[in-house]
Amino acid sequence: MQISEQDMREAIGFELADILHRQKTILSCNEALNLMDAEAHESLRTMAEEDDKNLRMLETVIGSYGIRVEPRYAAVQLSDVVSDIVTNEAAIPLEKLGAYILLKQNQMMCSHLVHKSVQATDLDIKIALGAFDGVYATFTRHVTELTKLMETAGVEWITGKPPVTGIFGRARDAVSTVAGMVISKVAKPADEMSVLPILTMDHRKVEVLFREITDNADPQKDAGIFHQLKADLTAHSIAEEETVYSRFQNLSDMKQQMIDARQEHEDIRTLLDEITDVLDDDREAFLDKIDDLQQLVKHHVDEEENKVFPLIKKNSSEEVLVAMSQDFMEAKKRVQENVGVDEIIASAANEDSDMAATHGGA
Ligand SMILES: [Fe+2]
Ligand SMILES: [Fe+2]
Repeated sequence: MQISEQDMREAIGFELADILHRQKTILSCNEALNLMDAEAHESLRTMAEEDDKNLRMLETVIGSYGIRVEPRYAAVQLSDVVSDIVTNEAAIPLEKLGAYILLKQNQMMCSHLVHKSVQATDLDIKIALGAFDGVYATFTRHVTELTKLMETAGVEWITGKPPVTGIFGRARDAVSTVAGMVISKVAKPADEMSVLPILTMDHRKVEVLFREITDNADPQKDAGIFHQLKADLTAHSIAEEETVYSRFQNLSDMKQQMIDARQEHEDIRTLLDEITDVLDDDREAFLDKIDDLQQLVKHHVDEEENKVFPLIKKNSSEEVLVAMSQDFMEAKKRVQENVGVDEIIASAANEDSDMAATHGGA
C-alpha cells in the first residue's frame, strides 16, 4: 500500500495526539482516585508521578516532532467514558479500577504501535521520538502493575473476604514488586531543562531533515519532508524571537547580534516561501533553493551556537534558562497549533516594526 510521506507523518501525529489526550484523562483520574494522596500506597503514588512526567514528556516529544493535531473521535470518547466511570458514585471501586486500566492498556497498545511504526520511518522522526521509548516502557510497566493489583483487589471483592476499605491500600502485596522502582532520571521533559539544549536539539533535527532531502532520490517524498522542515523552521524561529531574542535585544553586548539574527530568520522564512512556490513543478529549482536555504541555516546556527548561546549563558541564571525553555515550548506549541502560520509570521513582523519604532530604529 502506497502512503504519502505527508499522510504517514500526519498519521503518527494523530496517534500522538490521541495518546496525549488519554494521558490528560489519566491524570484527572489519578486525582479522582486520590493516587497522589499520602494515604495511597507508595508505588501507586510513584505511578501517578510517572504519569505526570509522561504527560510532560509527551508534550516535549510532540513539540519536537512538529505536527500538532486534535485527538480523534475514539480517543476522546473513550476518555470521556472512563472519566465518567471513575468519578461517578454509581460505580464500585472495582469498576473504576477496571475502567482506569482500560485507558492504560489503550496507552500501552497505541504507544507500542507508534514505537513500531517509527522504526520504519526517516531519521528525523526517529530522533524527534527518541524520548518516546521511555514513555512507552512506563505504560507497559504500569499495565503489568495494575493487572496484579486488579487480581488481588478483585479476588478479595468477589470472595467476600475482609471488607474492601480502599482497594489501593489493600493491594500492598500486589504492588510490592514495584516498590523501589525509580523513574528514569536520564530523559527529562523540556520544562525541566535549560533552553539551550532544547534549541540545539531543534537545530540537529533540522540538519537531519536537510540530509533527508538532499539524499532522497524519490521526488514523491520531497513535499512531505519539506513541509516538516518548513513547519519546524517556522515554529522554531518565531518562538526563538518571542522568548529568547526579546530578552536580550536591549543588552548592549548582544543587541547587534539579535538584530542580525532576526534578519536571518526573516530571510530563512522568505526562502521557505519561495521553495513552496517551486516545490510541485520544478525539482531542479527546488533542490537549488534547498541548497541556498541549507547554507543560510548553517551560518545562522553556527552563529547562534558559537556566539549567541555562550552570551545567553553568561547573562542568565539556571532558573532563567529553565523558564525560557518553558516559554519557548509554549510559544512553539502555539505556532504548531495555529493553522495559519502565515498570519503569525505577519503579526510577528508587525511587532518587530512596532518595536523598532519604539526603540527608534531596528
Ligand atoms: Fe535557533
Ligand atoms: Fe535562530
